[in-house]
Amino acid sequence: MPELVVPRLSVAPAVRAAADDPSLLPDGIDAAPRGMDDAQLAAWVESLHADTREGTPRPEGFVPSTHLWWVEGDDYLGRVHVRHRLTPWLRELGGHVGYSVVPAHRRRGHATAMLAAALPVAAALGIECALVTCDVDNTASRRVIERNGGLFADQRGEKLRWWVPTG
Ligand SMILES: CC(C)(COP(=O)(O)OP(=O)(O)OC[C@H]1O[C@@H](n2cnc3c(N)ncnc32)[C@H](O)[C@@H]1OP(=O)(O)O)[C@@H](O)C(=O)NCCC(=O)NCCS
Repeated sequence: MPELVVPRLSVAPAVRAAADDPSLLPDGIDAAPRGMDDAQLAAWVESLHADTREGTPRPEGFVPSTHLWWVEGDDYLGRVHVRHRLTPWLRELGGHVGYSVVPAHRRRGHATAMLAAALPVAAALGIECALVTCDVDNTASRRVIERNGGLFADQRGEKLRWWVPTG
């Protein structure tokens, strides 16, 4: 059974392997560990833990986030992060929650289950309704949000916005 865990070193090489796969061209957080050596990888995992803490220095406009990995043993299936609060930009486009599933594991219900598992984490952070957004043409993500009880809010540019009750 897959489970949602805080980033851990035993899984990190699999996360790096997913980022390193040149055929997949991951971007954003998914690309972060690309090409890292083991020391850099360990530091990156630690930085994900540190990102949950309010006092951690971060670039202007960034907010604390809880990063979680969807794993089965030491196999890495996907990731989700929960931003602890919204900035004007996040309220408009980014939302509280971001996620991705490793391509080889897609279309097996992992994203749907992973978001469901992340909602109590958002609730524990005091987020009663999580804003989740996706591109208008991202049918899969749209289904994931709908399956998790998302209430459609509106479209802003190329983004669709939903409020997902966390309780
Ligand atoms: C979006 C994403 C997370 C979905 O992951 P997943 O594990 O394949 O999703 P699930 O298996 O839970 O599928 C959810 C639904 O989407 C459908 N779906 C999945 N991939 C699809 C596709 N390529 N086209 C159409 N529908 C698709 C599934 O059939 C399922 O529908 P159902 O609930 O009616 O049965 C994954 O495609 C991904 O990582 N994409 C790149 C990153 C991204 O877009 N993240 C979301 C940003 S908002």
